[in-house]
Amino acid sequence: MKILIIGGNGQLGKTLNSIMPSRMGMDLVEVLSITRKDLDLCDIQSCKKIVKQIQPDYLINVAAYTNVDLAERNSEMAFSVNAFAPKAFAEILRINGGKLIHFSTDYVFDGKSNMPYKPFDLKNPINIYGQTKAEGEDYILDILQKSNQCFIIRTSWVISQYGNNFLLKVLDLLNQKENINIVSDQMSSPTSTKSLSNFCLELIKTIHLGKECSSILHWTDSGLASWYDLAQAISEYGKELGILINPAKINPIKTIDYPVIASRPLYSVLDITSTINSINLKQIYWRESVKEILHKIAKLQ
Ligand SMILES: NC(=O)c1ccc[n+]([C@@H]2O[C@H](COP(=O)([O-])OP(=O)(O)OC[C@H]3O[C@@H](n4cnc5c(N)ncnc54)[C@H](OP(=O)(O)O)[C@@H]3O)[C@@H](O)[C@H]2O)c1
Repeated sequence: MKILIIGGNGQLGKTLNSIMPSRMGMDLVEVLSITRKDLDLCDIQSCKKIVKQIQPDYLINVAAYTNVDLAERNSEMAFSVNAFAPKAFAEILRINGGKLIHFSTDYVFDGKSNMPYKPFDLKNPINIYGQTKAEGEDYILDILQKSNQCFIIRTSWVISQYGNNFLLKVLDLLNQKENINIVSDQMSSPTSTKSLSNFCLELIKTIHLGKECSSILHWTDSGLASWYDLAQAISEYGKELGILINPAKINPIKTIDYPVIASRPLYSVLDITSTINSINLKQIYWRESVKEILHKIAKLQ
């Protein structure tokens, strides 16, 4: 079985790379991981060419234009990476065979609900990033859904010890400042790249066994949090583990008092009930994930 990971240098890509080969538990699995150095996703012809050359059984696309604010200004590039590149992957897989596992986001929803979003609820993104991801999903479903070749995994608030995510940014601020303001009225489920990587492996095993899986799956760590709750947990565990000596005081503020370029959904919790029925994996509570990531960071210091 040949697995091709696209976006190997991102936080989820790095985690997948670290657990994939050792955890597949299947014989004859070849895992290839490529980064921007090997493929610029804005080059659509090259996107097709590389898939044609490698002929993967599973293409896991974790590459994305993920800067939500910059996407408002660089919408052309965001659409290329988040919508047109996945479309190209879908088109070539439709011809050549192979399945696409594609990651997407809670930001395809408008956040106006007061109930967790189900996989086939109506999408209504309120920023460009969400629009680009929603369009990418639509292309993939149009091209690959009928032939059961696509699996879109939507998740939320991704954190890890890698890259440039909220946890690492807050850790820096808690170290450097006396006071920080964090939004307390946006709610979702923080989710670690480890949980997502484990989910991705379980999904491949499930598909490989010939079991039926939906073309859109929701997966997050369990529990709800605001950015403020997440920052508080980072501060608490950071102190406990000796990463933070005298962390900044965290002040809860409202979205309206924290002007940023892109609007964010206020409530983007994903309902994972239907996924739990088809994939054999236990959810982890988000605070456990935060603790585990901070443990890893503490070990590196
Ligand atoms: N981060 C979140 O909070 C969040 C929330 C919900 C869903 N998601 C989804 O989860 C998935 C994984 O996200 P992540 O947090 O791991 O993202 P990430 O850390 O930002 O990684 C994205 C990767 O995409 C690569 N990339 C971007 N533009 C490219 C281009 N033109 N050509 C080639 N590669 C390019 C980046 O390359 P470089 O390393 O070279 O820049 C980076 O390695 C994405 O589909 C994202 O939409 C993320």
